[in-house]
Amino acid sequence: MGNKYDEIIVEIQSRLDDKRLKAGGKLPSIRRFAKEFNCSINTVMKAYSELEKAHLIYSVPKSGYFAVGTDMPKKQKPMIIDFVSAGPDKSKMPYRDYQHCMNQAIELYKEEMFQYSHPLGLPSLRQQLSAQLQDLQVFAPPERIAVVSGSQQALDLLVSLPFPNNKNGICVEQPTHFSFIDSITSRGLKPIGIEVNQKGIDLNYLEKVFRERNIKFFYTVSRFQNPTGCSYSNQEKKDMVDLAQKYDVYIVEDDYMGDLDTRKKAHPMFAYDSSGRVIYTKSFSKVLLPGLRLGLAVLPEALMKSFTQAKFAADVHTPVLTQGALEIYLSSGMFKAHIEKLRRQYKKKGSILKKAYLEHLPPNTSFTGGDSGFYSTVVLPGRMKAKHLVKHLQKKNVFVQDAAPMYLPEYLKENRIRLSVSQVEDRKIAVGVKKIGDGIRALAHSYL
Ligand SMILES: Cc1ncc(COP(=O)(O)O)c(C=O)c1O
Repeated sequence: MGNKYDEIIVEIQSRLDDKRLKAGGKLPSIRRFAKEFNCSINTVMKAYSELEKAHLIYSVPKSGYFAVGTDMPKKQKPMIIDFVSAGPDKSKMPYRDYQHCMNQAIELYKEEMFQYSHPLGLPSLRQQLSAQLQDLQVFAPPERIAVVSGSQQALDLLVSLPFPNNKNGICVEQPTHFSFIDSITSRGLKPIGIEVNQKGIDLNYLEKVFRERNIKFFYTVSRFQNPTGCSYSNQEKKDMVDLAQKYDVYIVEDDYMGDLDTRKKAHPMFAYDSSGRVIYTKSFSKVLLPGLRLGLAVLPEALMKSFTQAKFAADVHTPVLTQGALEIYLSSGMFKAHIEKLRRQYKKKGSILKKAYLEHLPPNTSFTGGDSGFYSTVVLPGRMKAKHLVKHLQKKNVFVQDAAPMYLPEYLKENRIRLSVSQVEDRKIAVGVKKIGDGIRALAHSYL
């Protein structure tokens, strides 16, 4: 039912927007629409009832459905579509379950709460994490796992840590996660960029950078990249790990959304590393709650001592209570069940988004990603600037992000927007993308 249902909603929404359907105007009968859209009466009824709930239409018994419209006396709440918020979908997060785990943790870890704990996390949690990571093809003993206050903390600490290769350059994908660009530039360092696009990464150029630029580590988001939403193939991952080994470069693999991958055979780079040069990080912010500030890093033996010192210096340890709750959440099996559901839900969001892109974006635009239901980018036509489109869409209550801050100055692209659909209800995705498409067409005139 999903697709026809979305199409009907988009169609009515667009008739309301461009006033083909005015306040009080009668909607096509359910029977007629079912015929027009080649779907069941039930699907049209469900779509109408959704629009009624959103106060866009109302029904009169025995007469049919009518448009509410802006000139009706009742003030209509505008439909806000937020493609900027990058937190997880609130309706899908196990808030209550986690609350129970927190309550249990406060009892279970009472003693630990009265003292300082291990800088790398509760030993029992590290054990659970070691077992759970195997589902992601990451095989690491608990001693090599560090619990951190959000994966951003591990990434940030690694920037200033001396590495066994005694090198100091940091190489990043272009574009990349802007918090990590901040981690580098806030220390007065200058990252070295390497472009990634729909076609992947230029391995010859990466090799040249590894050979010539004294690279300490290469920071990469190997799947569902932020902002492009792209993932590398297993072959690309293997090739990059080989290059790292050949030129004695470390790889920091940020697998912040590895849990959401539905491809059983897609492995992280860590799985291909035989020389201990891949540092693996994982976040619980996208699949649980970002406010918990929980993440982990798997470190090579050579970095354990210095990382432990740096973590201790930063915040002594991650709070015991949230660590304890995570341990209970993992060991009870709740995490596994939650992730399985979440994978399907986000995959569905991704397919709705990609279908909407293909239907509603003008032909001279392109897009990347969208598979995880989190990030994707849209490349705007010609010289169109993302900042102009962002402003234009704000007036229509559609919020998108200019991707410019995710680029280093020498790679800057001003014609990309980033979308996250994670907090956009499924029924609103196509409506929002249509508005983006309309916005691009409307702005195109001012660039002629
Ligand atoms: C690429 C990337 N890594 C990691 C994170 C999450 O970081 P944290 O675990 O610190 O919340 C994000 C959040 O948006 C991200 O985009």
